[in-house]
Amino acid sequence: MNHLRYLTLGFFLILAACQEKTRDIDYTDWSHYGGPEDGSRYSALSQITKENVSQLEVAWTYHTEDASERSQIQCQPIVVNGLLYGSTPKLNVFALDAGTGIEVWRFDPFQVLGGENSWAGTNRGVSYWEDGADKRILFGAGNWLMAVDALTGKPIPSFGEGGKVDLRKDLDTDREDFLIVANAPGVVYKDLLIIGMRLSEGLDAAPGHIRAYNIRTGKREWIFHTIPKEGEAGYETWDPSTISQIGGANNWAGMTVDQDRGIVFVPTGSATYDFWGGNRAGDNLYANSLLALNAETGERIWHFQAVHHDVWDRDFPANPNLIRIQKDGKWIDAVAQISKQGMTYVFDRVTGEPVWPIVETPVTQSTLGGEFTSPTQPIPTLPEPFMKMTFQKNDILNLKPEWEANIQAQLENALMGDTWLPPNGDHPIVLFPGMDGGGEWGGASFDPTTQTMYVNANQIPWIIQMTANANFENVGQAVYTNYCGNCHGLELKGNPPAIPSLIGLKEKYSPDSLDLLLRKGRGAMPAFDYISKENRAVLVDYLLGKAEIKTDKKELESVNSQLHPRYYMNGYKKLVTKEGLYGSNPPWGLLTAIDMKTGMKKWQIPLGEIDSLSAQGFAPTGTENYGGPVVTAGGILFIAATKDEKIRAFDKETGELLWEAKLPASGHATPAVYEKNGKQFLVIACGGGKGTKSGDAYVAFALPEK
Ligand code: HEC
Repeated sequence: MNHLRYLTLGFFLILAACQEKTRDIDYTDWSHYGGPEDGSRYSALSQITKENVSQLEVAWTYHTEDASERSQIQCQPIVVNGLLYGSTPKLNVFALDAGTGIEVWRFDPFQVLGGENSWAGTNRGVSYWEDGADKRILFGAGNWLMAVDALTGKPIPSFGEGGKVDLRKDLDTDREDFLIVANAPGVVYKDLLIIGMRLSEGLDAAPGHIRAYNIRTGKREWIFHTIPKEGEAGYETWDPSTISQIGGANNWAGMTVDQDRGIVFVPTGSATYDFWGGNRAGDNLYANSLLALNAETGERIWHFQAVHHDVWDRDFPANPNLIRIQKDGKWIDAVAQISKQGMTYVFDRVTGEPVWPIVETPVTQSTLGGEFTSPTQPIPTLPEPFMKMTFQKNDILNLKPEWEANIQAQLENALMGDTWLPPNGDHPIVLFPGMDGGGEWGGASFDPTTQTMYVNANQIPWIIQMTANANFENVGQAVYTNYCGNCHGLELKGNPPAIPSLIGLKEKYSPDSLDLLLRKGRGAMPAFDYISKENRAVLVDYLLGKAEIKTDKKELESVNSQLHPRYYMNGYKKLVTKEGLYGSNPPWGLLTAIDMKTGMKKWQIPLGEIDSLSAQGFAPTGTENYGGPVVTAGGILFIAATKDEKIRAFDKETGELLWEAKLPASGHATPAVYEKNGKQFLVIACGGGKGTKSGDAYVAFALPEK
């Protein structure tokens, strides 16, 4: 071998090391939450093209037949070996022939769990694992993690106890009476299923530790404490006298695994109580963080906290995208995390180094009694935000003078400004970006061939009012405030139509029927079977307006003690006119393409349309949207998500609308793209139920037979 050859070999080895070019990912695969294994929501299928997309027609429809008023389907289905797996409004899991939509099996978890455990809530997808002939589907139903045979839908008896694992156990706490909902599917790494959970946003919340379960046995293999124990790194970012009683910092958004490097990327949410953190002084690691953990052991490799000491409920809302980008001529294997606050954070996957500088920036400080906000927050210099970052007087909806006057009247006493305006005791504040983003759980898609990221967003102001916490008069009121007040408001007014008012329940419920509803939950309202029987009884008395509520003096003293927030947030409220129009100038729904080589926006368009406003001559306003995009090698970006009950195809290069179709109900979910028998399909769950009518259909589209 001559010197030149050695030299060439050496050169290629160095090049290989720099690029760390890993195994090619199969982008025709749709077997993960997020489609291919990198969470890209990208499909290399190209039978459906810009030229023929307008010919798409319904190939099949599957009705789950278990929808109810306000029920939803948030599931992004997966497809493996020609079977499509998804879930229903009542959390049944099914397998369909992906080519015909004909049901192969369907499993109702509550047949195994028993009626007492019947669960409302949502499920965003299932996970698939196989070893030879042993093929399993893993999914969450309430606080249960379950495993069934992927070919028959029968529970796997050797997994946990008869096919199920109770996620309330093995949390390294001395309690088990928690609200836990495994709504996002876990991720598979070798024989491990790594999973997070949705929790209560109140003081009763469990700590949001991340866990890995052995898929063969159901045994917990590792746990990462997102709220550290004494002696663990991050513990110093809390008040040691209260840390053991704080919950949250959980992952409800899903995760993404770098299979080659064995790193799992885990985005987390805020610590509880969400809106006043005086009893959790400090930055509160690992809340609101992107964690890079060793998938084998759960050890932390690096972390980034996007919101220090969160008082806005700025959970990371979606699983991150593993992206490979070329910046300044150099290839970087990066991870990109979108956020509710409309910013995208991008890091080198291995080192955690930001790809573009992220600058700690001074922000407005809270004046709420006892609160400690962080003096600075980290703001990425790039990529550009995918929505507006401030709400000022001139952003108030002014399409018609009466709408403007209505919003102005609501804001008379309010504070407004930028993303980091903290909740205030004397004034309502405009929360912008709002509680539901910015970015949401539909996530972003990334086209590896053009290095472009696509993300949909809500651009809607919310209004936050804090109420000072006078001492509770009885335990019923305390229980209500702690478990129910966030959603139904401290004055029980709710936020109709999504969250009903609880005034006058006496006319509708007996003590028994109300207790039953609380134990079982309904639709988007979680079950509260974990509240003790005694506390449920006083809560029911309180809600039914009983004159005398039996109250244990000691308990009342204890609930009125220090740990309780000195301020409560008075209900999740969007800023809207009498007619229900959002209080900012449109667009209210956005779709954005970002060039990830440069961090600059390529295009941005309104997403969705309100027909009654278009009819009055207004430009398309976009609509509130939940559910994500997918992008394909055929040059198309597919997305439903909007409240106008449509699915659309856009030219991925320009954002031009190429096709749209009416759905039986809004597709508040992310589509799946796959091939069966040489034919490309696009399928979307149409569950509605977010202020629009509920639905029970999965609708598949394909090109007509020639
Ligand atoms: C996460 C938000 C959330 C929380 C927390 C919550 N609820 Fe609800 N609640 C809802 C939603 C959404 C509905 C509508 C459910 C449906 O019908 O689909 C609802 C419905 C109800 C209803 C039925 C109202 C009617 O008109 O029939 C009652 C009663 C109720 N909730 C009581 C409570 C109580 C008591 C608590 C505290 C223990 C509580 N809720 C906590 C969101 C919530």
